[in-house]
Amino acid sequence: MAIDSNLYCQTIGKTPLINISNLVKPDGAKLLAKCEYANPGMSLKDRIASHMIHTAINNGQLKSGDTLVCASSGNTGCSVAMIGSMLGIKVIVVTSAKCSEEKQNHIKAYGAELMIMPDTDYMAKASELAIKHGYFDINQYSNPANPEAYYKTLGPEIWQETQGKVSHFVMTGSTFGCISGTGRYLKEQNAEIRVILADPDGSNMHDYYYKSFKENDNDFAVGAMKPFIIEGAGKSKPTPCLNFNVIDDVVKVNDQEAINMCYKLANTNGLLVGGSSGLNVHAAVEIANSLTSEHIIVTLLCDNGVKYLSKIFNSRFLTQNNIKVGAAQTA
Ligand SMILES: Cc1ncc(COP(=O)(O)O)c(C=O)c1O
Repeated sequence: MAIDSNLYCQTIGKTPLINISNLVKPDGAKLLAKCEYANPGMSLKDRIASHMIHTAINNGQLKSGDTLVCASSGNTGCSVAMIGSMLGIKVIVVTSAKCSEEKQNHIKAYGAELMIMPDTDYMAKASELAIKHGYFDINQYSNPANPEAYYKTLGPEIWQETQGKVSHFVMTGSTFGCISGTGRYLKEQNAEIRVILADPDGSNMHDYYYKSFKENDNDFAVGAMKPFIIEGAGKSKPTPCLNFNVIDDVVKVNDQEAINMCYKLANTNGLLVGGSSGLNVHAAVEIANSLTSEHIIVTLLCDNGVKYLSKIFNSRFLTQNNIKVGAAQTA
């Protein structure tokens, strides 16, 4: 029988904010990280899964016994499957072959059905299924409850936990719900706060931001993304959830830099986190090193590194993908 998932959802959010300034040069900015891996589904996406599902229930679009379809690079699928199972909602997650085996198994552990599609097709497949069978399409890429979840939770947490002293927010993006919702909240408190998107090398968002948005070139279009390893980061084109107006800069980080930082976080701080966290922290450290000690940068440790033991924490996978890390660092 379905239980009241609101009870369990109390454990979502209010994640620890930790000081990782040891990674920054001595006179650089203070660097803080929200431990989103501490959510029950082990990623930031619990915040949106809870809010999107409860919003749909409150709007009369979804109820116990219904089937929900969710396109996801993996983590939203995990979180939606977790909450769906508590509410008696059947969940079908459509993901790409890039999704780690650990995330695939995590989704299935909650009883959800998993469909794996070629990289570019998984979002279209979810809406096709919804239309064909009358399923509820949660569509995190265009669902306003996605950025709203961060506007209502993560933004206020960062503001309160830094006593309003946060000066920079650094975050990667895939749906861009997190950076858009959190960025909007923080800028409403203090318009001086700088919001920086960390974009993986291979993603098109840097070019979209500078060429299409900043230079107002409406004809700007680029092709498919170039391949990169980091999951849950980067996109071929802007999503409806993306609000470029709250973003001040876009910086690029490559796979090698992101993964180096994952190992550094594991070995110097005891933090086993996923590739997008390494990407975030690499970008945040570079920014912190260019600033002075009165600045406070907040970034996110988006998910748990256990979700990638077969990939970025696996020496064979790294060798196959031409990533080099110190021999003592890999299993
Ligand atoms: C591990 C991880 N990091 C970062 C993100 C980016 O968050 P958002 O979709 O809000 O841009 C995602 C999204 O899939 C993710 O799974």
